Amino acid sequence: MSHEPFPTDGTAVVTCGLPYANGDLHVGHLRGYVGADVFDRALRKLGQRTAYVCGSDMHGTPIAVNAAEAGVSPESFALEYHEQYRETFPKFDVEFDNYGHTDDGTNTELTREIVRELEDAGYVYEKEIMVAFDPEEGQALPDRFVEGTCPYCGARARGDECDEGCGRHLEPGEIEDPESTVTGNPAEYRERTHKFFRVSELQEYLREFIDRLEGTENAKNQPREWIEGELRDWCITRDMDWGIDYPGEAGEGEDGLVLYVWVDAPIEYIASTKQYSERAGADEYDWEDVWKDDGGEIVHVIGRDIIQHHTVFWPAMLHAAGYTEPRAVAATGFITINGKGLSTSRNRAIWAREYLDEGFHPDLLRYYLATNGGLQQDVDFSWEKFQSRVNSELVGTLGNFAYRSLLFAQRNYGGTPDCEVSEAVAGRIDEAVAAFREAVNDYSVRGVGQAALELARYGNEYIQAEEPWNLVDEDPERAEQVIRDCVQLSVALAVLFEPVAPDTAERLWEQVGADGDVHEASLGAAHDAPAAEFGEPDELVTKIEDERVAELNEKLEQRIAESASDEESADDTDDTDTDADDDTDADTDDTTDMDPEPIADDRISFDEFQALDLRVGRIETAEPIEGADKLVRLEVDIGVETRQVVAGIRQLHDVDALPGKRVVIAANLEKSELFGVESNGMLLAAGEEADLLTTHGDAPVGTKIR
Ligand code: MF3
Ligand code: ZN
Repeated sequence: MSHEPFPTDGTAVVTCGLPYANGDLHVGHLRGYVGADVFDRALRKLGQRTAYVCGSDMHGTPIAVNAAEAGVSPESFALEYHEQYRETFPKFDVEFDNYGHTDDGTNTELTREIVRELEDAGYVYEKEIMVAFDPEEGQALPDRFVEGTCPYCGARARGDECDEGCGRHLEPGEIEDPESTVTGNPAEYRERTHKFFRVSELQEYLREFIDRLEGTENAKNQPREWIEGELRDWCITRDMDWGIDYPGEAGEGEDGLVLYVWVDAPIEYIASTKQYSERAGADEYDWEDVWKDDGGEIVHVIGRDIIQHHTVFWPAMLHAAGYTEPRAVAATGFITINGKGLSTSRNRAIWAREYLDEGFHPDLLRYYLATNGGLQQDVDFSWEKFQSRVNSELVGTLGNFAYRSLLFAQRNYGGTPDCEVSEAVAGRIDEAVAAFREAVNDYSVRGVGQAALELARYGNEYIQAEEPWNLVDEDPERAEQVIRDCVQLSVALAVLFEPVAPDTAERLWEQVGADGDVHEASLGAAHDAPAAEFGEPDELVTKIEDERVAELNEKLEQRIAESASDEESADDTDDTDTDADDDTDADTDDTTDMDPEPIADDRISFDEFQALDLRVGRIETAEPIEGADKLVRLEVDIGVETRQVVAGIRQLHDVDALPGKRVVIAANLEKSELFGVESNGMLLAAGEEADLLTTHGDAPVGTKIR
């Protein structure tokens, strides 16, 4: 792992969090897989040797619980979804170099090997602990088989994670007031011997690691609290049948223990790379260069709910077993649908299969998901917004420019006019290439798409300003020059759009008659000569009509309503039915499923409310506060003056992206001091993650909020 900018001489691997093989794929999943796919393709464009690998997460209680409910074995349950995922990803041009699964031979073997390495290095010990047990079923209750109260924040939580509260990983025995999700009965705690990994001994290492780690702010900052705090050892075994048997001295499956799913799941990143390497040949790509060598550039793209696993347990394991540490962890935000949390159990989701069945091109969704917000921002999906971005950006800007330019070129010159590209346009292409390169090094998938779109915008303005259609008669030489430039811009656009919209890029590349394969082309190909002759272009992207959107919205609403009435009738008949099927969307957060805080009992008068001076402000500057992971120092223009405000908003918001944002400020609050910096006002934000409030029209800065 190096910290030189990409491309490096090393070998890279891009991974995306393994999907639990327990439910249909939806946009919440796709966001991550598309994002990582874009990143990997963009790295390739930079000339980096890289592979994109993933696999299905087959083990653990998320599978066992759902399989039990479906009345089938966990293995056949998971394999079925695994097959579905393997077939679906390519339909979105999410092209893994290898897609394995955690129950296959490669992963099983490698997992045992790594656990033995941890044992040999003295990192594993046995301890008696209390584990939840269902006396009625006579069964141990690991992880999602038990629910209760989070000992840290008091929220309702699952056995192994406080999924609706503080987000912490919970160790067996930690959850308070345990209840069995099998029977709904209170669970007992019973003593049992388990294996532990000495994470506590790796505190020093992890501290240094986190300082080196690249990626999104949330992934670099959130773990500090866990690492600086009391770092506890990690229980790596479970009382279950389904999983990889613990490779103990007493033989495999010692004491009926299997490995905790979070041990073998990330190891699949390595196993999947290994499978790719074995297929491609080590000359082409050697997995050991990545995972066992200093030159390995490991980039993990994950959902923000699994940051702790990827920045604490996983690097600890890698380090202790002598493997290469990750270079970067990029954690995505969640997806909301029409402003509400995506919920698979409530059918408030856009399903992968549904999207394809509707006949939409995968590039449209790829573009939307990749560029709608920064990676760590939550992204809202609505058919209106989808339509608006497709129509204005992909159709109106990219498609329109390419079509106008190439049609004109073909009709008037039979292809590319015979002259050199102007310096100005060649220079503008270089700027786009530089922006693209910078975006990759910032782990900004959106930036990659923006570099391309901005160039299309420039092209559109250029052709509009020059009006070659008028020039052909008035100044034919100038007309040739302009069209030559536009054809070159089309070549560059094909190259730069390839990561985000691979098929659209391929078609554009063919339209200009460029040589070779745009997927293999490096950034330099933006300056490649187009063919002297080419045929009439086709439209790259088709517009989405209003009627389609109305129809899709109706379908969605109907579906949500139906599932709500299903749920009610199900609740009537069966109140022991836990919301086990909510478990399928563990990876996407279900904000509407969280128990909201109760409304305050005391009413206040309107005058009391008016006493609060809330103002629209605009962030002018933002800088992190040294030593405080969440805090930023802001200068906020509130119309009458500019205020210095300290806000704890870095979990979700990228400091660099803050300037220019409109915010809401409580302006007449007492001044306070945080980390020695005066805060003169308070920014309003929602929830633990401090999601910033903004305005949606153009209320001027300084406007009072009523
Ligand atoms: N299946 C897990 C989830 O959806 C993610 C596993 S990622 C890995 O939360 F690191 F373990 F591979
Ligand atoms: Zn909690």
